Amino acid sequence: MSDKTENAPYHVAIIMDGNGRWAKQRGLPRVAGHRAGTDNLRRVLESCGELGIKMLTIYAFSTENWRRPEEEVKGLMGIFEDVIDRELPEFHEKGVRLRHIGRLDGLKPVFADKVRKAIELTKNNDKLILNIAFNYGGRAEIVEAVKTLIAKGVKADDITEEMISAHLYTADVPDPDLIIRTSGEMRVSNFLIWQGAYSEYYLAPVYWPDFDKEQMRLALEEYAKRHRRFGGL
Ligand code: IPE
Ligand code: IPE
Ligand code: MG
Repeated sequence: MSDKTENAPYHVAIIMDGNGRWAKQRGLPRVAGHRAGTDNLRRVLESCGELGIKMLTIYAFSTENWRRPEEEVKGLMGIFEDVIDRELPEFHEKGVRLRHIGRLDGLKPVFADKVRKAIELTKNNDKLILNIAFNYGGRAEIVEAVKTLIAKGVKADDITEEMISAHLYTADVPDPDLIIRTSGEMRVSNFLIWQGAYSEYYLAPVYWPDFDKEQMRLALEEYAKRHRRFGGL
């Protein structure tokens, strides 16, 4: 029997939340939760192929996450850099195309460079498109788009929704069909606020390190039952 569900979403986005609480529950430091979360990402990526998901966007670090204690931010940056160093060859081999949404400036130049190289290396892959939202903020993204349009000399009356979409980090990425947030928290936390205007939302009742293939399957099952109306009937 195939694992693919009827009416599978093309683009799934995930707010990977709850690493800290997962660690706390076990008496571990928060950074151990982030490590467990990263290990889980590998498993979730494998399940995407089996479940028929072609595009996955993950929220890894927000523009607001810089407000966390320096030690945690450092730990997170270290983990992300490790992931690129360690996992990139396997991602590439498995046909994963990596993309980044967010700002690369503001990151350590060596790290930003690794991200650019990973994007370049995998640009022709098409098994799974993985958009990593890193140093990403939805409001900052819209502000940047508007600034670019003004700098191009576009007149106020000529601005359209399509133009704004075309100047976001996600310029050629279709809007997410389904946005999942783990950990039960009910907010968007500045994630894809423009692109998610008509996305279906799903809250998974587990912390991110525990979000497994079965949890993903439940989310897709729920999505398949939804009736998307986009304002129509
Ligand atoms: C999500 O887990 C990962 C990042 C934001 C980088 P959290 O670190 O937010 O974990 P909780 O929400 O505090 O449990
Ligand atoms: C959202 O989670 C950001 C990521 C998952 C990267 P947060 O944990 O930062 O969100 P808030 O602070 O609870 O809203
Ligand atoms: Mg959180």
